[in-house]
Amino acid sequence: MAKKYSSLLLFLLLLLDSLPNFNASPEYSRPPPRPAIFAGPTRSKSEPEQVHISLVGKDHMRVTWITSHKHETSIVEYGTSPGNYDKSSMTGERMSYRYFFYNSGEIHHITIGSLGPNKTYYYRCGGNGPEFSFKTPPSTFPIEFAIVGDLGQTEWTASTLEHIGSKDYDVLLLPGDLSYADTQQPLWDSFGRLVEPYASKRPWMVTHGNHEIETFPIIYRHGFRAYNSRWLMPYQQSGSTSNLYYSFDVAGCHVIMLGSYVDFDAQSDQYTWLQGDLAKVDRGVTPWIFVLVHVPWYNTNLAHKGEGESMRKSMEELLYNARVDVVFAGHVHAYERFTRVYDNKADQCGPIYMTIGDGGNREGLAMMAPSYSKEEFDPGSEGTLAKL
Ligand SMILES: [Fe+2]
Repeated sequence: MAKKYSSLLLFLLLLLDSLPNFNASPEYSRPPPRPAIFAGPTRSKSEPEQVHISLVGKDHMRVTWITSHKHETSIVEYGTSPGNYDKSSMTGERMSYRYFFYNSGEIHHITIGSLGPNKTYYYRCGGNGPEFSFKTPPSTFPIEFAIVGDLGQTEWTASTLEHIGSKDYDVLLLPGDLSYADTQQPLWDSFGRLVEPYASKRPWMVTHGNHEIETFPIIYRHGFRAYNSRWLMPYQQSGSTSNLYYSFDVAGCHVIMLGSYVDFDAQSDQYTWLQGDLAKVDRGVTPWIFVLVHVPWYNTNLAHKGEGESMRKSMEELLYNARVDVVFAGHVHAYERFTRVYDNKADQCGPIYMTIGDGGNREGLAMMAPSYSKEEFDPGSEGTLAKL
């Protein structure tokens, strides 16, 4: 285990600059929410916008962008020096969707590769528009992750993004609640523009939260219409049949993205998939296993208290038996970290649980202080709760 820790530089952007620290500073006054930002279009209707990238398999990248015009070409040209595109790809898919009176632009998803590890590529989408660049993750340790949930689009979000952008991280992991569009579809476009300077440079791997659901009785019963169209993740590569849960490997880490708002009981597809996915993990290849899920299974804040309990009861044993290292959650707009836990008790074989749930959304920080006492939380055990 010590070797594992020393061989992996796990860089977590935990927003320590802006999130409360209950014990260290009892006088800390949680800052209020900041105004929302709306990022309008800045390019012509034929040019690509809202560009973001995501990992597909070991050495491929999916490039996603949107054009207002429906008939633009789905092509990505790329190479290892600026303006010199010696490779191109048209492999992928394009889609659009309606949500009541809103018609999305054309959403292009093109996969490129194979790509070398830890390498900068320059690329252009659709045969015109600006040049972008990204760096691929390394193939071996160390790897650095930026992890942030509940991002939204406010002035705090901009501050978080700036913070993230100032670090040379490899992959961003987002455990749900992206745009806070909440059925207002133009806000999805605004979010795409806001994150483009960051999400076009490094792979952003996301799972969904409650603000992605967007169901409407009878008409949009299944929800996730915008999310699934815009944030297509490599679910098929991990044997999942749903964009709402999947896994991927990167540089010695197996990362599992669970879905809080998809069935998770023992008879569900997600449960069966998770069981199979964990059984396939080779710790010789991926010694670290991380899980991301939107609703925390352990949470001492009053906000959203108990909401993750049914999922915890269903799936915790699977994670425990697989010796998952860390579980990251969002939803609760606070930072919180537990020591290794299983079934509400300190357990050296259980995962560490961390909540990193405020990227700066319009709802602001969870303002209600935790209501637990250490004894109340875990009467029989020493040191279960480790809060910063
Ligand atoms: Fe949430």
